[in-house]
Amino acid sequence: MEKNEILEIRKDFPYLSINGGSIVYFDNAATTQKPRQVIERLEKYYFYENGNPHRGAHYLAMKATEVYEEARAYIGKFLNARSSNEIVFVRNATEGLNLLTYSYGNEELHEGDEILISILEHHSNEVTWQEVAKKTGAKLVYLKVDENMQISSEEFKNKINENTKIFSITAASNVVGTMPDIEGMISYIRKNYPNTKIILDCAQYIPHRKIDVQKTDCDFLVFSGHKLCSPMGIGVLYGKEELLNKLKPFQYGGDMIEYVYEDYASYLKSPQRFEAGTQNVGGAVSLQGAIEYMENIGFDKILEQETILTDYAYEKMIKIPYIDVYTTNNKRRSPVISFNFKNAHPHDVASIIDTRGIAIRSGHHCAQPLHRSLGINFSCRASFAFYNTIEEVDKFIESLSYVKEVMGIES
Ligand code: ALA
Repeated sequence: MEKNEILEIRKDFPYLSINGGSIVYFDNAATTQKPRQVIERLEKYYFYENGNPHRGAHYLAMKATEVYEEARAYIGKFLNARSSNEIVFVRNATEGLNLLTYSYGNEELHEGDEILISILEHHSNEVTWQEVAKKTGAKLVYLKVDENMQISSEEFKNKINENTKIFSITAASNVVGTMPDIEGMISYIRKNYPNTKIILDCAQYIPHRKIDVQKTDCDFLVFSGHKLCSPMGIGVLYGKEELLNKLKPFQYGGDMIEYVYEDYASYLKSPQRFEAGTQNVGGAVSLQGAIEYMENIGFDKILEQETILTDYAYEKMIKIPYIDVYTTNNKRRSPVISFNFKNAHPHDVASIIDTRGIAIRSGHHCAQPLHRSLGINFSCRASFAFYNTIEEVDKFIESLSYVKEVMGIES
């Protein structure tokens, strides 16, 4: 993207302009900032369109239903779903994964079955399956990574087999940036193990690259809106319609029932089947607004800008002798760079960098087993978005020498 274009985009994010625009926000993998247009969409909903959807014959109830279902249809098109019935609104990717573990995993798995995940997973795609394994007696199997944080095809072919009932994998690691070869893995599974259900955790993928669910041919996919410029509390579970309609509801209550008797109830099909209680209409319309905003910029341009920033920062950081970088060196990666100072705790590093007005994350990033496999407990992480600039990366790199000085670290 041209410099002027980025500067224009930055005007949509008020926080990026405070203190004369000197704040650097590099914690985008945790949550992005929200553009004015998305907040205005939320405001419009609550000022002029707010009613309880699917539940009334008056104007506002119908308006809320209309905009809610429009958002669903829009997101269905964005993912190239076959029908908007394949789009279930949830709170976030975590809730989508919990829905699948309760409604599918706990119901369908038995002793002798296997669940295949990877060491790259966020806890939400890990502890969920640990619980299913505990409850059903199924075995949880991990794909491990090589020294470049990649899952080799041998590793994948060795671990998947006819007992693998669920393959649930992140499409992009929130720590080391790895984007596994999802397409290759899925086509291998479809050819050899037609009974395996495939779930993609796209929380860290969707903000950076578009995905076509029909081409990808996953069975289910989850993502969170707040990582792509929408407010928190709204996310999406995509599922093939015939599979969703076979699942037991996850939560029970209003608006998901068909008929209720004193001793019996029947339930609606997807998506209502999974949306008990008053829905987050403001969240859904804001998520539509956020995707429209990003499509307006262009996902190609977003990817281009984020790649420039990541490659630039990566190349500089691997040359710094007093830090270790954990991000994969494969150029197909998400825009995150995790690192540690050789002799400093990540929280100290992040706090010192923060005194320079630069926000990065420190901790285990909800991926303790991955950190352990790297021989560490915590790391620092800088994560970029399309509204970040090369000048900000330079400022961040400069702040690393400042940390070195403050902490008295030798090169
Ligand atoms: N999962 C989010 C992150 O990686 C919160 O920071």
